[in-house]
Amino acid sequence: MKNHAINIADQFGTPLYIYNEAALRQAANECLAFNADFGLTVRFAMKANPNRSILQLFHSMGIQIDASSGYEAERAMLAGIPAENILLTVQEIPENFQELINAGVEFNACSLHQLEAYGQLERRPNTVSIRINPGKGSGQFPGMNVGGPGAGFGIWHEQIKQIQELLKRHNLSIQRVHTHIGCGTDPEIWTEVAKISISFMHTFTKATILNLGGGFKVSRVPEEKTADLAAISTKVNEILKKFAEETGRKIHLEIEPGSYLSANTGHLLSSVIDLVQTTEEHKFIKLNSGMTELIRPAMYGAQHPIEIIRKDQQESQEENFYVVGHCCETSDTFTVKKDVRGQLETRRLPRPEIGDLAIIGGVGGYCSSMATINYNSFPQAAEVMVHEDGTYKLIRRRQSMDQMLQNEVSP
Ligand SMILES: Cc1ncc(COP(=O)(O)O)c(C=O)c1O
Repeated sequence: MKNHAINIADQFGTPLYIYNEAALRQAANECLAFNADFGLTVRFAMKANPNRSILQLFHSMGIQIDASSGYEAERAMLAGIPAENILLTVQEIPENFQELINAGVEFNACSLHQLEAYGQLERRPNTVSIRINPGKGSGQFPGMNVGGPGAGFGIWHEQIKQIQELLKRHNLSIQRVHTHIGCGTDPEIWTEVAKISISFMHTFTKATILNLGGGFKVSRVPEEKTADLAAISTKVNEILKKFAEETGRKIHLEIEPGSYLSANTGHLLSSVIDLVQTTEEHKFIKLNSGMTELIRPAMYGAQHPIEIIRKDQQESQEENFYVVGHCCETSDTFTVKKDVRGQLETRRLPRPEIGDLAIIGGVGGYCSSMATINYNSFPQAAEVMVHEDGTYKLIRRRQSMDQMLQNEVSP
């Protein structure tokens, strides 16, 4: 990446996301190799990165889509993804719900209200998927836990009776059981999750698909650990095989990683715009990007690797710096205490000159899609794809001022 950085910055300007096709393909192949004796579907949780070039690349490799809003489903279809490759797992029922279902999008009911709304549609299949909150959850950061009593995602596991009443009233049967609780790197945790999840298949005897969601952690910095997909999938597969022996039912497995498929496939390229010092211990490198491109450090205390590229190729001495963004917010910072919101921490980096470049890694997922775009009226950054042959192309232009203002009207 480093060797492309200066050329890409000269050609397209900064700030800019750079995605790496080879890394995307490698992550996809690792997920597609997940052990599943009775069939596997991998869905990309497109909330992580909805750029159409990325969706199309994954689609060309046989990966389907987890859409978390009606808009994401539409966006995927506009990118050429067939509707029947899209599973809708939403918090907000889309206004064009009926249209999406007519097109062939599948629906995963995340609450009793959603199940009722699906039941009431004029036209729909007689099968549905349900997301269950199994009563347990785990997340990399406290704000990422999406299971257990403190998380309102999915139908609470003790509400099986209400689910069955709704199924009966609307003549529906469950085809897919879905759980996504945000998991760990440890195969033992996944074994536990898979066991809990498969236990619901005993209740829903017509279900043929188990979707375990995403949550396969990736390490962005050396101190973190990446989930071992091969070890996890072996454990999960054993559980599916045991279930098949006991019940004769061969359950098709689905997983829907977002981070695993994208996080380490992207870099954020920025320019150093200022160097500020207060006390002896407080030196700041200020970049022309910030929470407008990458909000994870401010939001979760997430760690991202940072590299300085000296344009003059000269070596400079390492010092302790805070690396901060261009917004008028104290929390607009890239170097924070691990897993703690709002607490700055220094990083040892070579002293840059103003005009040098900084590359922040681990930004392929939940960065361009999640940032506070247009805060302080900074335009949405551009995106570039570096292909396997080393060539690169713009896959999203930088937003113009006209585009930023296009929906404002004067009374
Ligand atoms: C339903 C569902 N599936 C999959 C994912 C992807 O999770 P991750 O990016 O941690 O793999 C999410 C993330 O929020 C989700 O809500």
